[in-house]
Amino acid sequence: MTRTLQNRRILLVIGGGIAAYKALDLIRRLRERGARVRPLLTKGAQEFVTPLAAAALAGERAHTDLFDRAEEADVGHIKLARDADAIVVAPATASLMARMATGAASDLAATVLLATTLPILIAPAMNVRMWQHPATRRNLATLTGDGVHVIGPNEGAMAEAEFGPGRLAEPTEIADAVEAMLAGMETASGLGFLAGRAPAGPLAGRRVLVTSGPTHEPLDPVRYLANRSSGRQGHAIAAAAAAAGADVTLVSGPVSIPDPAGVRVVHVETARAMLAAVEEALPADIAVFTAAVGDWRPAAVGASKIKKDGSEPAPLRLVENPDILATIAGRSSGRPTLVVGFAAETDDVLANARKKIARKGCDLLVANDVSAAGGVMGGRDNTVHLVGRDGSVETWPTLDKDEVGRRLVARFAALLTA
Ligand code: C5P
Repeated sequence: MTRTLQNRRILLVIGGGIAAYKALDLIRRLRERGARVRPLLTKGAQEFVTPLAAAALAGERAHTDLFDRAEEADVGHIKLARDADAIVVAPATASLMARMATGAASDLAATVLLATTLPILIAPAMNVRMWQHPATRRNLATLTGDGVHVIGPNEGAMAEAEFGPGRLAEPTEIADAVEAMLAGMETASGLGFLAGRAPAGPLAGRRVLVTSGPTHEPLDPVRYLANRSSGRQGHAIAAAAAAAGADVTLVSGPVSIPDPAGVRVVHVETARAMLAAVEEALPADIAVFTAAVGDWRPAAVGASKIKKDGSEPAPLRLVENPDILATIAGRSSGRPTLVVGFAAETDDVLANARKKIARKGCDLLVANDVSAAGGVMGGRDNTVHLVGRDGSVETWPTLDKDEVGRRLVARFAALLTA
């Protein structure tokens, strides 16, 4: 059991949605990590879970009503808004997000959220159409602009037999995001205190290096060996790390997607150039090797275009490229604190990933199935498994690559401070 939230005080605002039952599990997960949880249930939440259940799991009384005289005398909404290290809103319903975005102080939850200067994490959960509605999009943009942290929602089957983004993030994912948020508050030093919220995110002050895309290994001036990597996953990780406040260098092979905003991008073509650019970009706290680096390159590169001459083509002789990940993970000095590899496999994904983490010497391996049927290589979505050095495996639901990037970055931030 990890006690990474030891003695942190979390005010958990439970909104009124079908996912409210998962907030009860969240209380347990937060307490497992050492946090003290004070629940606050909206009127709607009480239609789904009882204050008694929340209080029993939290080991603290649950707050419910703005105009409870006893409560105002005893704790009071202003005290609730101050007396914690962070506020977590889970599930954050469309209505609660709207109240937060407009600053409405219409019930205890909304009043506390308006009166607070604490860091806030919201875990939205709602019907997919409500999530996609322009009003919710606007509210989300307002809230993130105000410095509110967001986790999820996940994609999947919904209570109303619909499918899409709208499911509450899993309690362990929310707990990870709380950790990352609080870790960011610490690294943001005095500024976070002055502003009331971390201006710079959980990776403020950290250097992150990401490789992304394929490599092109020239055969002659016009031909090359390559693979189907689009660079989407690596670019999404770099963007998420920048959004989390990190100083990010992205070393990218040839891709057709734009450079992410707020990231230093070094464009390379070959594996050897990628290794040189990576070494140049070090030191880093975190290095994430997402690139689909060509394992081999043509042994000889023609100085001019190789011509057809009517005879049998010459056999293509290949030599092995340097393994960038293994080289950096094996450094005796200047090794990044957290080295993350990727394993794109078409068969026996987990068995191969377990072998690979040992062989490469990285701290975490993100494995995914890239067999053609899944459409991962070049596609928008990804289903990943996190493989630890101890052989442990955590499988995530299928998510779009941006969301995978955000969650991975939250996990890296938590691992860095663990
Ligand atoms: O051995 P394999 O190519 O499956 O390993 C994948 C992992 O190793 C990825 O993280 C990839 O970025 C990295 N890699 C590398 N240099 C290579 C080959 C792979 O950094 N030459």
